[in-house]
Amino acid sequence: MRKPVIAGNWKLFKSIAESIALVDGLKPLVEKNRDVEIVVAPVFTALNRVSEALKGSNINLAAQDCFWEEEGAFTGEVAPKLLKDAGCSHVIIGHSERRQYFGETDATVNKKAKAAISAGLTAIVCVGETLEERESGRTFSVIETQIQGSLDGIPAETLANVIIAYEPVWAIGTGKTASDDQAQEVHSFIRGLLSRLSGVTAAENVRILYGGSVKPDNVKGLMGQSDIDGALVGGASLKADSFAAIVNFNA
Ligand code: PGA
Repeated sequence: MRKPVIAGNWKLFKSIAESIALVDGLKPLVEKNRDVEIVVAPVFTALNRVSEALKGSNINLAAQDCFWEEEGAFTGEVAPKLLKDAGCSHVIIGHSERRQYFGETDATVNKKAKAAISAGLTAIVCVGETLEERESGRTFSVIETQIQGSLDGIPAETLANVIIAYEPVWAIGTGKTASDDQAQEVHSFIRGLLSRLSGVTAAENVRILYGGSVKPDNVKGLMGQSDIDGALVGGASLKADSFAAIVNFNA
């Protein structure tokens, strides 16, 4: 049914040489795994060289952000078709760090997701509540607003090119993972919401990843939940052995 996705978000870490060394270390550790869609997301400057290093492997390449226009006077931006040109098949959009530090909103996430899909990329759209939102009982309403706004106008047929990443902000980089039940509760809420917005079939086919302090020792429990279809991994994706252990969670 839904092929699991394990994606490594390298954030602002690693030079070109370090990025290539990491994928060279990773390739032999995951080469036999045909059951998981494996994705790595290096910094922009390393994308093209990493894409060459990944040729012939079972690892896909993602960027960590994109712009929504194809070209023009937009200093500093990168268009989805140029990410494709650099060898990407996926792009992460609306990560909470971008929402928190760079003014990303559901409206910009929506424009970026649509542009990414039109360029032939799979958009990994991130949502998640802060600790304050969770503690004040607003988790579901926050997630609902983010999903509705981020996916607005994306037709059900196109949802096949979207992966959702649920990343509670309080669990990112803190070592504090959501429990299996806490994560499953929100994943199931998201699938229910997608089913109301886009129909049961589209909702059943969308992969929903969990992110936030995923490690080799907690991935199995999370992946055992019926609506958790994979993981978006930060810290533990920066080393070949720990990322491979997460990718091979079923081995
Ligand atoms: P983390 O990051 O695994 O280091 O918590 C996850 C993410 O930000 O995608």
